[in-house]
Amino acid sequence: MALSLDIEHKLGDSLQAFADLLFIASENGTILECHFGNSSTYPAEACEEIRNKGLDGFLSIEARDRLKQYLSERQEGGKTASFEFPLILGGHEFWFDARLVGTANSQLILSARDITKYKQTEHRLKRQLQRINALRSIDFAIASGLDLNLLLSILLDRVIETLHVDAADVLLLDQRLNELTYAAGKGFHTNILQHTRLKPGHGHAGKVVLERRIVTISDLTKGGSDFERLPLFPSEKFVVYFGVPLIAKGRVLGVLEIFHRSPLHSDEDWMDFLNIIAGQTAIAIDNAMMFKELQKANFELGLAYNATIDAWSRALDLRSKEPEGHTQRVIDLTTRFATLLGVKDTDLLHIRRGAALHDIGKVVIPDTILFKPAPLNHEEWHIMRQHPKYAVDLLMPIKYLEKATEIPHWHHEKWDGSGYPDHLGGEEVPFSARLFALVDVYDALTSDRPYRKAWLKQDALRYIEHQAGKHFDPRLVPEFLNLLNTNGF
Ligand code: C2E
Ligand code: SIN
Ligand code: SIN
Ligand code: FE
Ligand code: FE
Repeated sequence: MALSLDIEHKLGDSLQAFADLLFIASENGTILECHFGNSSTYPAEACEEIRNKGLDGFLSIEARDRLKQYLSERQEGGKTASFEFPLILGGHEFWFDARLVGTANSQLILSARDITKYKQTEHRLKRQLQRINALRSIDFAIASGLDLNLLLSILLDRVIETLHVDAADVLLLDQRLNELTYAAGKGFHTNILQHTRLKPGHGHAGKVVLERRIVTISDLTKGGSDFERLPLFPSEKFVVYFGVPLIAKGRVLGVLEIFHRSPLHSDEDWMDFLNIIAGQTAIAIDNAMMFKELQKANFELGLAYNATIDAWSRALDLRSKEPEGHTQRVIDLTTRFATLLGVKDTDLLHIRRGAALHDIGKVVIPDTILFKPAPLNHEEWHIMRQHPKYAVDLLMPIKYLEKATEIPHWHHEKWDGSGYPDHLGGEEVPFSARLFALVDVYDALTSDRPYRKAWLKQDALRYIEHQAGKHFDPRLVPEFLNLLNTNGF
């Protein structure tokens, strides 16, 4: 419909620039004139539709508010109102960016630019951003090393949220049994799928595994689906099914299953995201499984290490003719003391190992010196004082004992710097060696030696107290005495 010459004149050049849609309304909202700029884009009856609805009928609530506001402000000084609004024409949604001006005879002129393309792009970008954010949060969850069940639960939340589907689950392929079992699920009303056990090739998920591709069922209600073997399945009212293989490093680890209770609009973006999220899930599962295997291997290795260390320290006890359980007592006292001083976890493990191996260097000392029932002469002392160095030579090649070697290396250093082998003083002596020195001397003094009988506990304690600041770290002495006075050592 063409505009009257009169109106065209009033609009002026500036409004023509927006002329994808132009119309004139009376003050009460009746559409008087209507004109679409590019008639091929819009249905032929578009103006008819608009006119039938009236201004109030087709504007969104938001746009109507802007219009009202405009009309009230117009009394004060005729500004232009602008707003965006959607318009359904011939069943399709269009978006317009509108300018509204009032004419002298109280009519309203609305001129609008078609921003449908822009709106669609904006919507698409928003959706993509939401998906990217979902992927980032999944990445974060994977990197934070959560346990697999928790991780899958987070992943499925994101899948449901971002793909706008009703339910999803993950079936894991047990590599030994060669069987798919349920690992996690979200959005189900029943627990029917939790009992899933499928061999590759069986059921929809089994087909996904065998053929390593997505299986889609667009209408589960039609019948003929494998879910019919589950009597309760219809109560879930699922319509659409997607089964996606979870593949990492070329291995199928399981299936991501997606269910929706109404028909699904799965465009290219949606399918892309489904594929990405399936890839992420596969990586998460692969990581978690690797971590579990590594933990197990580490645990077994740790047991092997400890057994080796035990064997060495027992061999040394035998050689030194120490009574059985002697080294174990030293280890126990050291561990209690270190714990009291706040040592934890791997530091404590290193200290335990260090204590067990503290005199391993003595295996190199000749019997004539080790078992001499008298004070050592100058030359014998020289050799005896090498035992920490021998320990370092023995243990140095063993990487996992690097930290533990502190104790065999420096347990004869003294706080005042008069010890050996490196004449370290004060805090130059590693904390582990400083605390162990107290245990070592206490244990030596209260044990029989070839060159003397065991001291009484009280004499040993008095000696140690006296050596605070000389042999021993003065801050550790009271702690040690306290430990021995309150415990039954
Ligand atoms: P050990 O017997 O295990 O003694 C460890 C540390 O406890 C000694 O380091 C020393 O600081 C302290 N300790 C042990 N017994 C006594 C003692 O009777 N009096 C005092 N004041 N402190 C004692 P140290 O002195 O560096 O000795 C290292 C190792 O040398 C000893 O280990 C022991 O195997 C050997 N050793 C030390 N003195 C003699 C000795 O007179 N005769 C023999 N055959 N061996 C000795
Ligand atoms: C001492 O009896 O003071 C010397 C022996 C030793 O240090 O073990
Ligand atoms: C240790 O592991 O030796 C205790 C920590 C420290 O070196 O101070
Ligand atoms: Fe020693
Ligand atoms: Fe010793």
